[in-house]
Amino acid sequence: MRVEGAALTRRGLLVGIGAVGGAGAMYAAMGALGLAPSGQDKAFAAPRSGDFSLTGRAAGTVVILGAGVAGLTVAYELGKAGYDCTLLEARDRTGGRNLTLRGGDRLTEAGGVTQEARFGEGVYFNAGPGRIAQWMVTLDYCRELGVPIETFINSNAQAYVHTRGGTVRARTAKADMYGYVAELLAKATNAGALDRELTRDDRERLLDFLRRFGDLGPKFDYAGSPRRGYLKYPALDDGTPVPGPGALHDVLAAGTGRSILNDFGYDQATPMFQPIGGMDAIVRRLTEAVGADRVKTGAKVTKITDQADGVEVVWDGGRIKADYCVATLPPHVLARIPHNLGAQVTAALRTPVPVAAGKIGMEYDRRWWEMEDRIYGGITETDLDITHIWYPSHGYHSERGLIVGYYNTGPEAELYGALTPEDRRRRAVTQGRKIHGDKYGKGLLSSVSIAWERQEHIQGGWVRWPAFDSSFTLLQRPSGRVYFAGDWLTHLIAWQAGAMESARAAVTQLHQRVLRSQ
Ligand code: ALA
Repeated sequence: MRVEGAALTRRGLLVGIGAVGGAGAMYAAMGALGLAPSGQDKAFAAPRSGDFSLTGRAAGTVVILGAGVAGLTVAYELGKAGYDCTLLEARDRTGGRNLTLRGGDRLTEAGGVTQEARFGEGVYFNAGPGRIAQWMVTLDYCRELGVPIETFINSNAQAYVHTRGGTVRARTAKADMYGYVAELLAKATNAGALDRELTRDDRERLLDFLRRFGDLGPKFDYAGSPRRGYLKYPALDDGTPVPGPGALHDVLAAGTGRSILNDFGYDQATPMFQPIGGMDAIVRRLTEAVGADRVKTGAKVTKITDQADGVEVVWDGGRIKADYCVATLPPHVLARIPHNLGAQVTAALRTPVPVAAGKIGMEYDRRWWEMEDRIYGGITETDLDITHIWYPSHGYHSERGLIVGYYNTGPEAELYGALTPEDRRRRAVTQGRKIHGDKYGKGLLSSVSIAWERQEHIQGGWVRWPAFDSSFTLLQRPSGRVYFAGDWLTHLIAWQAGAMESARAAVTQLHQRVLRSQ
């Protein structure tokens, strides 16, 4: 590479790198310079039938275990190059945990309890995934598949924070926590406690920031702020502020701080997105693109045998032999299927621990959260066993609406999961009443609850790896002709993006192997 002149501009550098190393090298350099778009795995190249030109090789047959988001993505991507894919799905529909329930849908749990959704026309309940971050590959698939999206309000200043200290608006909780934290830090800074860490200029800069961050007074006191909100908002008069703030001790003792941190996460920062009309639009479009006739539903796999020239899979209705297999079942389910992949694979599959997760969708005859509480979308955080209440980010001002009355995980989810659907609803209403008052128990038309750990062939909301250790990396590689894929093989567990990224990784490995094969 020859660089003209003394000044090496970024553009010049990139042009040079591009000329010598190709687009991939230029892209990597752009990333290093902070110029590349910050999405996921932009390097993924979908297999194309043209890849086989001049190689003398051809797309083979692939049996995919599980038609959830990972399995469908594998079939979709391999299908672009003409692979002949067959999906075996034990449940009666595709999508796995991407499950949207509408009026007339039935949901059966292990043990036989069946609920029928009685939701009105156009009302839906995303019983599984419900939100997508902007950087996630899930949105790329929405674009590619023509799934229209809309904003999902993950954080709403107008929603509530409910703790043992009481119920306040999120804006009030934030104002008080930020205010007091700023006050303490500003006073410590001003008293010289940080003089070893700060230059004189930095001290002034920090104080200036803290004054704004906490809306502090001239002596760095936090004495409340209009940010806390109003009982009656200013208009013709200057309004009636929310009383308070309570003393620092009370605010800390109430535990409000814990509940206002959600949207700090790189995967939770607002705004987020959702497909219009229900999350399962992704599944519907993926299934159509793959070809519904490639999916055998109600097919429970009972044996996997890796052989020198292919993989034989037996299910309760037949057997199939394909060149390769991609297993996308949850690891704890896969671990129980007899196979010849060795004890190490079984041990690795048994390592991740299933985590319980539950949700209830509750349809009301009127949108009281909009009309009375003035909450348009978003989430109320609580320290109750319901954990969260989600308000719909769509259908504003329509007649009816569905809220998610609990979304919990771990022990709280197990507690609700062990109840009958009727008792889950009763308990959710009792808890929600503590926040919204009596109206919470009125006009509730119908509800459906899911306990993912009780869903046949899934048996968990997601999994937790005790450590991302050699078991994790072992399964990211094929075992013979059997590949593995799923959100559980990524650091994006419990996200569809994890399933899609993992699917892409398996597809890339499989396709490269076929292109190289003798
Ligand atoms: N991805 C899951 C959620 O959005 C954990 O809550």
